[in-house]
Amino acid sequence: MTTHHPAPHHPAAHHAAAHHPRAHHPAVVDAEACSAALDRGETLPWTWYADPAITALEQERIFRRSWSYVGRTDQVAQPGQFFTCEVGGVPIVVTRDRSGGLNALVNVCRHRGAQVVREDCGTRKSLQCFYHAWTYGLDGSLRGVPRGDREADFDTSQLGLRRASVDTWGPFVFVHLDPEPAPLTEMLGELPELLAAGGIDLERMRFHHRVYYTIEANWKIAVENYLECYHCPVAHPGLADVLDVSPDAYELEVRPTFATHHGVVRDIPREAGYPVQGPVVEGQYHLVWPSLKVNVNPGQPNLSFGPVHPAGPERTTGYLDYFFGDDVDEAWIKAMLAFDDQVGAEDTDLVESVQRGASSGGVERGRLLLGSEHTISAFQRFVLGRLRED
Ligand code: FES
Ligand SMILES: [Fe+2]
Repeated sequence: MTTHHPAPHHPAAHHAAAHHPRAHHPAVVDAEACSAALDRGETLPWTWYADPAITALEQERIFRRSWSYVGRTDQVAQPGQFFTCEVGGVPIVVTRDRSGGLNALVNVCRHRGAQVVREDCGTRKSLQCFYHAWTYGLDGSLRGVPRGDREADFDTSQLGLRRASVDTWGPFVFVHLDPEPAPLTEMLGELPELLAAGGIDLERMRFHHRVYYTIEANWKIAVENYLECYHCPVAHPGLADVLDVSPDAYELEVRPTFATHHGVVRDIPREAGYPVQGPVVEGQYHLVWPSLKVNVNPGQPNLSFGPVHPAGPERTTGYLDYFFGDDVDEAWIKAMLAFDDQVGAEDTDLVESVQRGASSGGVERGRLLLGSEHTISAFQRFVLGRLRED
């Protein structure tokens, strides 16, 4: 783990988080009543799954106050390399500067607010805004302003791109809008140890490809579906052929910052969609609050890793970066991905159906089975806890 602190030439008062306008939200959170409902095994109100005011509050209080997975170190391995991303709706550019430093900069021009970098990724010597050609260094400092010398008292030293915090874990790059966030290690908790114990050596994993997706549902419904396997015997016959999804064999665990599933391969696998035997004997599936998915299927070393973003009250976008052990062959990868895609397609169908039902207004809230869905309850407590924070 390496921590990259904001460079000293950007005073704290000029950091991104300090400048977010305080949105005025209606009294959307009746926290006491919601908490009591969760105690009874009920869900958060379903109005929260279609309400733009709730989505705005979630962006502000959850996503802008958490570490977000944004991409990989191989995308910014060389000086000059950059990629763009968003954190809580704020455009960010991650750069590798000349001196090897990793920077996360708010990709909003300090002149009139254009997005300085418009490409997804690439290599540049500097960050020149396409609107009036203000030019920033790869570390965000303002280097050149055409006609700036014709202005009296024009001080460029305070007009660098705002900085966010950036940190890495293995090949993964994370960004937090706060200049002094709680350490990334705190959010990851025992996740690195769990992956290592499950046969995943990050040093030996190679990036294979990224898959983007869009789901027509609120982001919480997508997360909640991910958090339980009560639906597996019913909705995922292929998965249930591989893993023992019975309640006594399939483990669901709530940790301080994430929830975990462990699924053991059946003693006598039914006809499996891909060769499940190998050094990775268990499936492990983690959801780090608020929305980072970490998946390992049994078999050869494999890992998929990616965030879920609210793209509106009733739309979710996300992606998964797939990694495989450096000696895993393409035929195995292809077979495993076909299996994985099938499970993913089944989940999308479930989630979009839940959105149509839950958002219809026909029923106020759901009733959980706390023996099989306590992970959902824990997630909803996390959401409620953040929304009630001022
Ligand atoms: S908005 Fe970027 S230079 Fe004018
Ligand atoms: Fe599922």
